[in-house]
Amino acid sequence: MTAPRHIKLFLFPAAAGAHVAGWRHPAARSNLLDFEADRRTAAIAEAAGFDALFFADRLSFPVRDNATAERSAGSAVLEPLTLLAALSAVTRQIGLVATASTSYHEPYHVARSFASLDHLSHGRAGWNMVTSLTDAEAANFGREQHFEHSARYGRAEEFVDVVRALWDSVDDNAFIRDKSSGRYVDLNQVHALNHRGEHFSVRGPLNVPRPPQGHPLLVQAGSSEEGLRLAARVADVVFTTQQELQPAQAFYQALKERVVANGRAADQQLLMPGLSAVVGRTRQEAQDKLQALNELIDIDVAVAFLSALSGGTDLSSYPLDGPLPDLTLTNGNRSKQALFLRQAREHNLSIRQLAIQVAGSGGHRVVTGTAEDIADDLQRWFEGGAADGFNFKPLYLDDNLSEFADQVLPILRDRGLFKHEYADGTLREKLGLARPANRFAEGGAA
Ligand SMILES: Cc1cc2nc3c(=O)[nH]c(=O)nc-3n(C[C@H](O)[C@H](O)[C@H](O)COP(=O)(O)O)c2cc1C
Repeated sequence: MTAPRHIKLFLFPAAAGAHVAGWRHPAARSNLLDFEADRRTAAIAEAAGFDALFFADRLSFPVRDNATAERSAGSAVLEPLTLLAALSAVTRQIGLVATASTSYHEPYHVARSFASLDHLSHGRAGWNMVTSLTDAEAANFGREQHFEHSARYGRAEEFVDVVRALWDSVDDNAFIRDKSSGRYVDLNQVHALNHRGEHFSVRGPLNVPRPPQGHPLLVQAGSSEEGLRLAARVADVVFTTQQELQPAQAFYQALKERVVANGRAADQQLLMPGLSAVVGRTRQEAQDKLQALNELIDIDVAVAFLSALSGGTDLSSYPLDGPLPDLTLTNGNRSKQALFLRQAREHNLSIRQLAIQVAGSGGHRVVTGTAEDIADDLQRWFEGGAADGFNFKPLYLDDNLSEFADQVLPILRDRGLFKHEYADGTLREKLGLARPANRFAEGGAA
């Protein structure tokens, strides 16, 4: 009998929450440098059965040269791998996924850090490979401008191959630690890479043993053509922004086809659109709760947020109640730019309306209603071939997470759509994803 297919759930705390003004909610957590609070959020997620915690990252102060910086939470957050290492000691089951940039790191660093986290956490680590987005990040790494879109994906393709080869470079059983003979490691099971590519020269091997998962979970979140090419080839989990069921189904179908065209089984990649939810005893109460949160938004902050997310066009110089101008696809976040343009056109939204919608959700889908309504919505997306699970982004912490965990998840459990307890094993095993074979141990070439 095959195991029942369950909705997978990641928790994406997104600094102080997905909502740009969520930190101002009277019950919200606003201090992001409080480990006890992170520990509490992780404990809520683990008690609720979330599969993983995901900490995003960027490599610059987020809003530069702009008065809105002083009104944005998340300006200064802890470096995610460091935070996850601490959380690995106070959690037991939940996966620990962090972003690291392929544009501003070296593969050896990334392979080493995530291998270390995988060992510390007994196989719960995951890497969200991003190519970074902004010139502000470039400016912290000796460049005036960010790498051009296709160039950075070219670097990412080679980057991930080197990282995976480094994870394979020390076989699972290389460490014999034989006190009587005095032999610690069997060097026949340790392999140099001697990689020389367009972007990287890496001799190897890695100075951390092969991770418990073989390879920590690989996550990819870019939805441009280049992003999808990379995702279809290597990603175990794909994050995406999808607002409506039909386009999400088409996206799901197309990506699964590409996964299969890469010689992979369709169920070996999990597609997880972003999702936020506001639960009410009635639909009206849920709407009112969202409205109260939206009233905390400063419109200048929202427009700056929309400008940044839609690729850097300064929208504050356009009439607030006028239409979104034609955005030429820039070097930034191409999939978001296209999505916002489509949303604005289809629903005839002004800049103000779109800015509030986007800043009130971090760009992801927000579902409001009773717990039953929200469970129905998730079921429709899951069973309708639009999602293998969801990357849940609370609008603020922790009450908005707890209401989802306490009210929506029990309904999904009763319907047989969400697990009752964690499966044994590593994050890959819990998610039903195979442990990658070692290319060297299998006799393959680097
Ligand atoms: C859920 C989600 C999380 C993301 N997290 C990060 C992140 O932590 N750091 C980052 O630089 N980009 C992040 N991104 C952006 C993507 O990695 C990617 O750069 C973006 O979607 C644009 O890619 P594209 O040009 O291929 O569409 C995230 C995207 C999504 C949907």
